[in-house]
Amino acid sequence: MQALLDILGPEDPDRVLAESLDPRRLPRHIAVIMDGNGRWANRRNLPRAAGHKAGVEPVRMTVETCSRLGVEVLTLYAFSVENWKRPRAEVDTLWRLLRVYIRKELPELMRNGVRLRAIGRLEALPPAARRELLAAVEATSGNRRLLVNLAINYGGRTEIVDAVNAALANGDCAPITEDIVERYLYTAGLPDPDLVIRTSGEMRVSNFLLWQVAYSELYVTDTLWPDFRRSDLLQAIAEYQRRDRRFGGLRAPRAEIEEAAEAALGISSR
Ligand code: FPP
Repeated sequence: MQALLDILGPEDPDRVLAESLDPRRLPRHIAVIMDGNGRWANRRNLPRAAGHKAGVEPVRMTVETCSRLGVEVLTLYAFSVENWKRPRAEVDTLWRLLRVYIRKELPELMRNGVRLRAIGRLEALPPAARRELLAAVEATSGNRRLLVNLAINYGGRTEIVDAVNAALANGDCAPITEDIVERYLYTAGLPDPDLVIRTSGEMRVSNFLLWQVAYSELYVTDTLWPDFRRSDLLQAIAEYQRRDRRFGGLRAPRAEIEEAAEAALGISSR
């Protein structure tokens, strides 16, 4: 948290927002559906590629802010298994932007202690994009401050299918349990997302981290991804901190009241 305050001037409105956060209750894992690049471009009479290009700066800001805040994991939905249905030129633009981002940002990722990883069926990526991505994953593998998962050629259903097949291939046969599936997910060993942010107002999960979002807090903003600023991210975290997370149970004080009432009525199960 202090590392973020260090770069915010005394008059910066983001400073007030950052200072309002409780550093002990930050989400450990934030996942983002970066949506609205196409609409951003359409509204300006620009080609869709311009929207994707404008989406790179919010990626840079989100990575830096999460690293400085002390978030442990950030997962960004960069390309879904369904995105191949888009025109070839748009898909090519996305691969080019990925390579440009990696080349340009690698020194900054190193400075911010960011470890890059990619989740998805990477074998289908164009060879140059895959090579550069894996080289960046290797170069940043010793960094420990923030883990950034780039979800690329990613699908939530595909991930679950891949996990079950990997388990079976490894001799983990029926009965398949939740623990077994988790062990083979692309995100094995990572905490589930506490907060999922989706930009551009769509109320959908869009095949993103289907298994892992079971108890995530969802935050949808109308802001289009290229317009997503640090204040939007901090507001999402502030809203997360106002949520009452129960994971299917009851809040602690409520649970105690219920137990006392049950004891008084003589119907306690204890
Ligand atoms: C969804 O907007 C966005 C994508 C499919 C691509 C996300 C890519 C970036 C933010 C560019 C750079 C990424 C990295 C990791 C360097 P959309 O095109 O579906 O928007 P629309 O719904 O308005 O059409």
